[in-house]
Amino acid sequence: MSTVLTIGADGDLVERFAEASGGDVVALGVEALADGGLLGALAAPDAPLLVVLGAEVDLDESFAVAGNVDVVAPSTSVVVVAFADPDLWMEAMRAGVRDLLSPHATPADVAAVLTRATARAEARRAVLAPVPGSAPTRRVVVVASPKGGVGKTTVATNLAVGLAAAEPGSTVLVDLDVQFGDVASALALVPQYALPEAVQGAASNDPLVLKTFLTRHPTGLQVVPGSDSPAAGDAVTPADVARLVDMLSREFRYVVVDTAPGLSDHTLTALERATDLVLLGSMDVPGVRGLRKEMDVLGELGLLPRGRHLVLNGAGSGGGLALEDVEKTLGAPLDVVLPRHDAVPLSTNTGVPLLEKGGKDPVTRGLQALVQRLAPHAAAPRGRGRRKAGAR
Ligand SMILES: Nc1ncnc2c1ncn2[C@@H]1O[C@H](COP(=O)(O)OP(=O)(O)OP(=O)(O)O)[C@@H](O)[C@H]1O
Ligand SMILES: [Mg+2]
Repeated sequence: MSTVLTIGADGDLVERFAEASGGDVVALGVEALADGGLLGALAAPDAPLLVVLGAEVDLDESFAVAGNVDVVAPSTSVVVVAFADPDLWMEAMRAGVRDLLSPHATPADVAAVLTRATARAEARRAVLAPVPGSAPTRRVVVVASPKGGVGKTTVATNLAVGLAAAEPGSTVLVDLDVQFGDVASALALVPQYALPEAVQGAASNDPLVLKTFLTRHPTGLQVVPGSDSPAAGDAVTPADVARLVDMLSREFRYVVVDTAPGLSDHTLTALERATDLVLLGSMDVPGVRGLRKEMDVLGELGLLPRGRHLVLNGAGSGGGLALEDVEKTLGAPLDVVLPRHDAVPLSTNTGVPLLEKGGKDPVTRGLQALVQRLAPHAAAPRGRGRRKAGAR
């Protein structure tokens, strides 16, 4: 394909891009957006460097297209032609637009947009390129716990945000708490589609269609939110879950799965496909015993994946339990210990994950340590606190 693809742009602008790119421009009318075929074309390896959505394209449609292009062609930058103000910039960036260009852009403005898109595409290719001699490690990470309210959603959302930040475009988070999932709320998302839509119709067997049903978080993380009603969630079968996880794991390096408490059929189905299990327990006797029982049951079922990460949440909240006692009961060392901290409910209530905010509290450091276990090449977390919180 060409270096630049313009859609609904006026002749002068097309001319400027032609000058800046040495004539390597294809100009299409707005009708190119009509049937969704464009996304299929952009998914090809020779996708253009730049897609310019001109003044003839409705702004809402431009933003929707940008979000989809970000998923199917992460090395392609989308530029929208509009008079920019700070609010519009914010909305555009959240949607996945890389640049806004004034309808009166000068040749220098156009050249600068093209230079930025080139630099970005090169950076993306460097990140996405496999390390020579090694296949990229694809991971399906299931976050589970025997009991409710122990921090699964907190850990799953932060882990996913951390992995997405470490490798842009790499991560999708699936809310498999099919009845009462609250991933969307923990990420302050207002999704258009949720789990039931992502497993129905064409989305259930076409990865390109499936990607248009994902919800994009401002960090670039893609999300399959839980259903907004328990009845709709109940309609999602374990076979649906199997197909969804299989498809997503072919498209994303990291598939993070949040689950309902205990071992539902949906959770067991995800575990059959998991490379990693993050098993969470609380700092109390029933919590620790439940954790031990769940490990035993999963071991008997042959569903303990090779990557196991034992996380104790809410440590330091009293109750007379020492970490050594917990490890003795579990018969295994704890990998990450997260203390009780006010920053966590604050983050839950505002919908801003701790790893998006990047604070220095011990829970943030512990969560960074968990990200590091799954993506060791990611930037090392700042701060220490090894014994109190984080890697052990
Ligand atoms: N380390 C912590 N310190 C303080 N509060 C915490 C901590 N971890 C989790 N919480 C709070 O506990 C509540 C439950 O957390 P979360 O929703 O992550 O648990 P869950 O296991 O997903 O629950 P459920 O089983 O209902 O899905 C949230 O309000 C969260 O803010
Ligand atoms: Mg939860």
